[in-house]
Amino acid sequence: MRRVCLTFRPLHAPCAAMSDDLPTIESQARTAIAAAGDPAALDAVRIALLGKTGQVTALLKTLGSLTPDERKRVGAEVNALKTAISAALDARRAVLEAEALAARLAAERIDVTLPGRPDRAGTIHPISRTMEELTALFGAMGFGVKEGPDIEDDWHNFGALNIPSHHPARAMMDTFYLDAAAGSRPVVLRTHTSPLQIRTMLAETPPIRVIVPGRTYRSDHDATHSPMFHQCEGLVIDRGITLAHLKGCLIDFLRAFFERPDLKARFRSSYFPFTEPSMEVDIAWDRKSGEIGGGSDWLEILGAGMIHPNVLANCGLDPREFQGFAFGMGVERITMLKHGIPDLRTFYESDVRWLAHYGTSPLAPVTLHEGDAR
Ligand code: PHE
Repeated sequence: MRRVCLTFRPLHAPCAAMSDDLPTIESQARTAIAAAGDPAALDAVRIALLGKTGQVTALLKTLGSLTPDERKRVGAEVNALKTAISAALDARRAVLEAEALAARLAAERIDVTLPGRPDRAGTIHPISRTMEELTALFGAMGFGVKEGPDIEDDWHNFGALNIPSHHPARAMMDTFYLDAAAGSRPVVLRTHTSPLQIRTMLAETPPIRVIVPGRTYRSDHDATHSPMFHQCEGLVIDRGITLAHLKGCLIDFLRAFFERPDLKARFRSSYFPFTEPSMEVDIAWDRKSGEIGGGSDWLEILGAGMIHPNVLANCGLDPREFQGFAFGMGVERITMLKHGIPDLRTFYESDVRWLAHYGTSPLAPVTLHEGDAR
């Protein structure tokens, strides 16, 4: 066999002259491939062997100078060598890639069982927190929670609630009217959560006990009014429900919510078209110290009353058989009083400093402080 003089120079042993017999080249190549510790090193080995000026490529180039017989034999051997080296390179590349992936997975490992980092936690917005408290407190008294649409037709928002179209209450409510499809009922952004009284009575059969926390809208904007705000409605319907139930339920609630078992409350006669009798509920406070629940001044907290017989009848209930009461309160208002928040507008500014101050840890449980009015 003609001797083919070639040198394979692995990267890190640049000048070592190497054998040109194929088994030796193959074993040196395998050693170099095995020694390559990362994809770049392996690529250098590949280029030194199979690249344009690589050792095996050079061997292939010499075939032209051989006799046809030799060319056939040596060509087959060199090609077999090339195939073997390619396979070894591929196998090594797969190993290196798997190792690199394993190393990355180990380095970027996340232990999902570690506890959260409280220093990075957000807070629950005071409005959400109050709604959670309302849900828990009324839940303990057997109330379920209902939701309904923010966009209402005027029958649910007004008509069914005994507020006819000429009624001044419609103007009082600063209603946002929306475009309605031709021929259909006028559509509004609900001005209160009371439409859910209607929806609930139409959908369920008594006994009914629900609260409805949700968004409400009125065209009004100053330090104590926002065009969007939150209310929580309450509705109880059963046989034999009286004003005493309304009073007991609300006194219990106010004492629990403001965490003051001796909180003083006052029921003051008022007017709502959908309740009869109607009342405003005030809690005692001290104007000078700001103390809530005691003192000689009064703060209006919510509207309430016994469901008007017309409203029961509008919902298909016989007022001689079923009675009930409802109440509605402003969620912002009771939240401002409970936490001493002076300006309503700050609720919607999304200022993280404000949220960090007035917000609650998501991990803090809702307290179920018991009133003592039973
Ligand atoms: N919907 C009334 C309001 O927005 C509040 C209310 C609810 C009054 C239920 C009585 C009964 O002012």
